Amino acid sequence: MTSTTQTEHSFSEQPARFSNFIRFLAYVGPYKWDIVAATLGGIVKFTLPLLVPQITRYLLDGVFLNAALTTEQKISELLLNVGGMILAFVFIWSPFTYVRHYFASRASYHAVFDLRVEVYYRILRMSASFFDRNMSGAIVSRLIGDIELAQNLVGSALTDTWMDFIALIAIIFFLLQIDPLVTLSALVTFPLYLYFFRKSQQDIRVSSLRVQEEIAAMSGHVQERIAGSRVVHAFTQEKTEENMFLRDSQNLFSTTMWRAYLQSMNITTTGVLTQIAPLIVLLYGGTRVIQGNLTVGELVAVTMYLTPLYTPMQRFAQLNLVFANSMAAVDRVFEIMDEKPEIRDRPGASVLHDVVGAVEFKNVGFAYPQATEAEPGPVLKGMNFIVQPGERVALVGPSGSGKSTVVSLIPRFYDADSGMVLIDGQDVRDITVNSLRRNVGMVLQNPILFSGTILDNIRYGKPDASMSEVIDACKAANAYDFITKLPKKFDSEVGEGGNFLSGGQKQRITIARAFLKNPKILILDEATSALDSVSERLVQQALERLMQGRTTFIIAHRLSTIENADRIFVLENGHIVESGTHNELLEHTGVYHKLYS
Ligand SMILES: Nc1ncnc2c1ncn2[C@@H]1O[C@H](COP(=O)(O)OP(=O)(O)O)[C@@H](O)[C@H]1O
Ligand SMILES: [Mg+2]
Repeated sequence: MTSTTQTEHSFSEQPARFSNFIRFLAYVGPYKWDIVAATLGGIVKFTLPLLVPQITRYLLDGVFLNAALTTEQKISELLLNVGGMILAFVFIWSPFTYVRHYFASRASYHAVFDLRVEVYYRILRMSASFFDRNMSGAIVSRLIGDIELAQNLVGSALTDTWMDFIALIAIIFFLLQIDPLVTLSALVTFPLYLYFFRKSQQDIRVSSLRVQEEIAAMSGHVQERIAGSRVVHAFTQEKTEENMFLRDSQNLFSTTMWRAYLQSMNITTTGVLTQIAPLIVLLYGGTRVIQGNLTVGELVAVTMYLTPLYTPMQRFAQLNLVFANSMAAVDRVFEIMDEKPEIRDRPGASVLHDVVGAVEFKNVGFAYPQATEAEPGPVLKGMNFIVQPGERVALVGPSGSGKSTVVSLIPRFYDADSGMVLIDGQDVRDITVNSLRRNVGMVLQNPILFSGTILDNIRYGKPDASMSEVIDACKAANAYDFITKLPKKFDSEVGEGGNFLSGGQKQRITIARAFLKNPKILILDEATSALDSVSERLVQQALERLMQGRTTFIIAHRLSTIENADRIFVLENGHIVESGTHNELLEHTGVYHKLYS
């Protein structure tokens, strides 16, 4: 499938870049006090329990085994220490623990919120070529899934690391105080632990990246099939599609299983080392107790420290997994952010005022950024024409001759590679994209509506339009009658993509939408081609009204539409080979004459 490979190629498999992590920090920056609070909370949460082994050791060596104390004294010491510790957990440990979790979550949700809004903002402003290259499902999966993964980075990398680090230092400090040699025995497995951990880390990162890419490709594929379910049914390709999905799922399954294998190996090797560690301590520390170099209380305290010692170490291990997954996601998110929309305002671009509607192409050359097999070279090669304000021009030529391409250069869906497109004598690249597009209206072959009501769709380009403006536009667009016959009239839902309406009804709504926008320049690209003859007549009538007083480019097959044009441009091989009125061109007995007959 070419579409699938396109997605795989467009997001590259670069290794995680540290610079992206720094960039990500910028999103967390505004919430740094939440992070600080969470980290401080975490430090208390993990260090306070470290006093318990100290107290145990004191109670064992200094109280229980101390022959100099009376039973009463021992009991009051026990109550004092244990009671004090209980109070400390209730009044100190619990508020700090609450702060740790609440603020860590708040910081990460905030950061992710900001990032997601910004990514969507960027996606909306991407040029047409971006959407040519990437499947919509894949883009959605980046916006939702990858950003979700990036969230883990805040909690894990930014708060856990610090508190684990401090907890580790505190534990090692306490251990060294008790007995440096026994401490060493507790750490003896640590280098091995690090070794296994590092070894698996890179593989896991790579496999996570692949899992995400495969999910994105699959979402893209599936979304297309679901949106086009009618086609799947009409061609009875359910089985083929099922097999295709099965194959994608199997790929995803083996990649995730490979990752599961790596993760399981990682957990097993690091786990066995954590299990062995206390036994080594018991072995060596026990010998020292027997020799009289260590007290029972000290040995018990050391073993009690082992769990808090290995917990942060194990989390460091997991942190790496989280970090690997999240960084891969962050990389891809920034990849989208770094896509510069090719169509942007130039610095100092001017706002288009009081448009008259003259359109000129000066030596315009254009090739699609991704040359397709159908069109490997330039689509337009030095195209020249001047269209007067209010003139009606028809573009004719064989399918694939570049008619749609010509008109898509006017609102700058793409920019010319050479030459220029001028509106009222101004290069479109010197005009702000917003003011340019406000003045160009389009009615295309496949009308696109968004789910919502008819009213929402008509007002799409002008949300503040009054109801009487809407009604006038609908009447002019031949849409008023059918809308008022619907049970809920303007409040009727149109369904996803406008599917509850017929093609002709949808088209008349997009025409009403164009009336409200009131553009000086109008583009009609096969606006009636997909319609039956009754709908076509209604739409054609509406379009006639819409064309009044506007510079219009019409691409159509219907002869009467072409005949009525002020001028006809005949396109062939990226050039305008003939131009003139219908009668002029017929007399000329050239390409148009041939097409006509
Ligand atoms: N988005 C695109 N990406 C790459 N090539 C395209 C794209 N759109 C059209 N083309 C190619 O450009 C050529 C002209 O297409 P188009 O302007 O749509 O022709 P027409 O509207 O005259 O049928 C075709 O050969 C087509 O394959
Ligand atoms: Mg076309």
